[in-house]
Amino acid sequence: MAMQTIEELFEHELKDIYSAEHSLLDALEQMAGESFDREIKKVFTQHRKETQGQIKRLEKIFKSMGRKPEAETCPGVEGLIKEKKAFMREKPSEELLEYYNIGAGQKTERYEITAYESLIDMADKLGMTDAVELLEQTLQEEEAALNKLKMIASEFDVTEDMEEEEAEKKTTSRR
Ligand SMILES: [Fe+2]
Ligand SMILES: [Fe+2]
Repeated sequence: MAMQTIEELFEHELKDIYSAEHSLLDALEQMAGESFDREIKKVFTQHRKETQGQIKRLEKIFKSMGRKPEAETCPGVEGLIKEKKAFMREKPSEELLEYYNIGAGQKTERYEITAYESLIDMADKLGMTDAVELLEQTLQEEEAALNKLKMIASEFDVTEDMEEEEAEKKTTSRR
């Protein structure tokens, strides 16, 4: 049957982000594991914890609509995860992978921010006050995560590490 109402669209988008948050749980765990900088590892680990809470909020919204929480694959976030997998085939150095992850994290936060902004708009139009409040809490967490990652990226001193690594490579190849 054709989709016709904003409520149906809202439910569809809810399933989409519900799936995305689950995929991001794994991605954040992976990025925290790959991280060699304690500060960066903490950001990924903390946001993973927040993500668990975000999933709970989504479940509350499903419940308030009398629906069972359901996931519908989110090709947007799956695409970002695929992008990362392709990058891994380039065999990046530890430092470069760390720097890449900070950027990849920002891409996903931006995706989530836009998804939540749309959901909030729809919930608002549907008069779902409680849902608006829950979604806004999540939106704030996503924005804070984006800002943290942005700051970390600007402070990330990649040149020194990479130059050292380059120099090391040259010495070893000379041997
Ligand atoms: Fe999230
Ligand atoms: Fe996020």
